[in-house]
Amino acid sequence: MCGIVGYIGRRDATPVLIQGLKRLEYRGYDSFGIATVGSELEVYKRTGSISDGEAEAAHLRGSTGIGHTRWAGYGEPTVVNAHPQIDCEGKIAIVHNGTIENYSDLRRHLEEQGHTFRSETDTEAIVHLIEERYDGDLLSAVNATLPLLQGSYAFLAIMEDAERIIAARNKSPIVLGVGDAEFFAASDLMPLLDYTERVIYLEDGDVADITPGRLDIYHGGQRVERPIELVDWCVEDTRKGGFDHYMLKEIFEQPQSFYETIRAGIDEDVRQMLMDADEITLVACGTSYHTTLIFKYLAETFCNVPVRAEMGSEFKYFTAPLNNLVIAVSQSGETTDTIAALNMAKARNCPTLAITNVQGSTLTRVADKTLLMRAGPEVSVAATKSYTAQLAALMQIINLRCEGAFDDVLSHAHLAIGDVLLHNLEDAVALCSRADHAFFMGRGPFYPVAMEGALKMKEISYVHAEGYAAGELKHGPFALLTPETPVVAICTPGPIYNVMVSNVKEVKARKAPVIALGVDGDKELAEIADIFIPIPDTHLLVQVLTASLVLQLLAYHTACALGRDIDRPRNLAKSVTVE
Ligand code: F6R
Repeated sequence: MCGIVGYIGRRDATPVLIQGLKRLEYRGYDSFGIATVGSELEVYKRTGSISDGEAEAAHLRGSTGIGHTRWAGYGEPTVVNAHPQIDCEGKIAIVHNGTIENYSDLRRHLEEQGHTFRSETDTEAIVHLIEERYDGDLLSAVNATLPLLQGSYAFLAIMEDAERIIAARNKSPIVLGVGDAEFFAASDLMPLLDYTERVIYLEDGDVADITPGRLDIYHGGQRVERPIELVDWCVEDTRKGGFDHYMLKEIFEQPQSFYETIRAGIDEDVRQMLMDADEITLVACGTSYHTTLIFKYLAETFCNVPVRAEMGSEFKYFTAPLNNLVIAVSQSGETTDTIAALNMAKARNCPTLAITNVQGSTLTRVADKTLLMRAGPEVSVAATKSYTAQLAALMQIINLRCEGAFDDVLSHAHLAIGDVLLHNLEDAVALCSRADHAFFMGRGPFYPVAMEGALKMKEISYVHAEGYAAGELKHGPFALLTPETPVVAICTPGPIYNVMVSNVKEVKARKAPVIALGVDGDKELAEIADIFIPIPDTHLLVQVLTASLVLQLLAYHTACALGRDIDRPRNLAKSVTVE
């Protein structure tokens, strides 16, 4: 859960590295560092976020360099533990994303050989191993080191006196940007968008030898060609564009992310795969998992196809037979647990599909086929527009299986999404921001919508919130209801309405204040609830979207009222690349 960058070419490396790390901050932000090589190796490291101003003091010389923004794994977030890590002599530096599982053994062995460790990081073992094996050529030393490493790594290594970066990848991503006699390297596309749209995705097991005018990629000791691909994201998409926070900007981009994903449609070969499935298993984590749960309710209702939705992190503990289509859903395409689950499905010979927002991500390389969401880059740690785009992709699958029954609904859904963006949520925000705990409840597809509302609330406002199936609240959680515990209830028309209204009354009888989401003009609900938030009276598929959006806004404004760090909530990073 860290970000790495590298630059080699004709520019001054320091500003390129600093800018690149700022773009990667959502992957981790407890410390950062850069190293450059001119005639000698220079290193600059600090604790805290790279945006806090300290980076501006870095004036390292050289047009070859590497950088890292850290989310502490092995070792506290201190300057010593920040990357780059260097060898005993201070000649070789590396930045690393991933986890070296046999680090303790390696460290013991290296210390016996006389190496002195300065940090508590697993990364430092890699640089000492390279030093140990260095015999005049950095590439050979890296190649000799890789077989000793167990675990995951994406690392960049540089050495004094050499305009050269060696990059190696195993289970953690590296993408290279191709410029004019210059190359960039990064954990993901974000830092590259400022400079180039031409990129090369390294594969697991690849080692790249990069000099200003030349790039050689090796796999298993053989030189290989990797295609240059064109990225269709642009740098403007990564800017705040006048909004106070990326999260708010991304919430407002949801009509577009939904529309674009629907417009992109589904390729013929993916269609065939989806039509052939007798049952569908989905794997995902966090917010993405919630979209798979919503899909389960909707797909089983509308297309009568059996659906399993599993958390990526728990998938390996289920041994039920698996012999049909498995779909992994992930904004980043880099979530370790989701990738591991998809690999398990492949090992069992299931056809696999990735639904992801990031072209070229690991998941797209593992899955047989990919259905790309069109959310554009999502910078805020909290997923919003990627959630909506995932729902767009998943709803298209439902539409496909229902022979286009929802063509009209889906092609107009973005308009209804746009309608709720400017809702006034002042009273609800005042209630939530005074609370220590809150419950979100719903039924059917609105149960996972409630779970998602609660997740958003807790992750950015730090108000403890739980999403519950409305019928379950009375089986224990009722004991927690007090006049200070708001309950957010999603009460849309249809089969769930009457029973949801009863559940609201039960909650009110326990003196908990109710914030009810219901369709515009629902006077009954407006009278029972303490606060009523109207959403447009639309098709069920669209209500799922509009209700979700309102809950995102509720979390956002509550977090603002509490003065939270909206785009970088504490203890969280966007891309979770550890188990
Ligand atoms: C919450 C959030 C996370 C992610 C989860 C999976 O707002 O963003 O719960 O949804 O870490 O990430 P992806 O979708 O990249 O696999």
